[in-house]
Amino acid sequence: MNDLSVNIAGMTFKNPVTTASGTFGYGEEFLDFLDPGQLGGIFVKAVTGKNREGNNYPRMAETTGGMLNSVGLQNKGVDIFCRDIYPKIKTFDTHIIVNVSGSTVEEYVEVSERINELEKIPAIELNISCPNVKLGGMAFGTMPDMAKEVTIAVRKVYKKILMVKLSPNVTHITEIAKAVVDGGADVITLINTLLGMAIDAERRRPVLSTITGGLSGPAIKPVALRMVWQVHKAVPVPVIGLGGIMNATDAIEFILAGASAVQIGTANFIDPRVGLKIIDGLGQYLERHQISTIKELIGALKTE
Ligand code: FUM
Repeated sequence: MNDLSVNIAGMTFKNPVTTASGTFGYGEEFLDFLDPGQLGGIFVKAVTGKNREGNNYPRMAETTGGMLNSVGLQNKGVDIFCRDIYPKIKTFDTHIIVNVSGSTVEEYVEVSERINELEKIPAIELNISCPNVKLGGMAFGTMPDMAKEVTIAVRKVYKKILMVKLSPNVTHITEIAKAVVDGGADVITLINTLLGMAIDAERRRPVLSTITGGLSGPAIKPVALRMVWQVHKAVPVPVIGLGGIMNATDAIEFILAGASAVQIGTANFIDPRVGLKIIDGLGQYLERHQISTIKELIGALKTE
């Protein structure tokens, strides 16, 4: 058997395949399709301080090679997460990581503090990269000073593994990455969606109610690979890569670029079992290349 396990900031993942926040609910919605315990981890849907209804419909649009969304961080808030959702998912035999979102530094801190109390949650993913909200979200992730400030504030109250999810909608991704590492991030996850829009020419109107939204899917993979590669070289912490991963070959590309693990996002909407297929494909790749452990491939891209 080839070894697919990876170590990220002291956490052992049984394999490097996880699901991206907002594409896999809280995991329980997928129980008819798979055993979440087979995945390396699940990044659950964003959790904010209070209930959010999200943006008006339409808030999803299919585009060439991708998908636009402007959900707007719809969720029931941290109280309901802790009281009703956590008890149902805490027994999954995999790492459950909570995507923490907010409009203010205080909200990020409040939610992180609450999640810190949950024994079976070993890490949070601080989401400073949502492009679909008027306050907070990506606004924190596009300026190094603000990215560092929110990371420092959360670091003070969050005692476990702190992952920070970066936005690709910046000129210099490595500056943001360095800022959050200076602020105390243990892991960087990237990339969130690229800001885009779709237009209905017949109606002469934008397709999304919010006009712009976040682009995901295969269309963004080259951008994501480039940023994972740059950030992996620039900071001393592990990187988790995402952006348009549809199959095992895509996942291998991210790992070669420097990702210690990957998140599967848009592909879950097409095939809820895609994560398991990718795990199988990674094993076959190791077999074919006679490599005993996937760890050997992390950052092993040959550039000379
Ligand atoms: O609109 C949304 O809920 C998207 C969130 C995100 O991209 O982080």
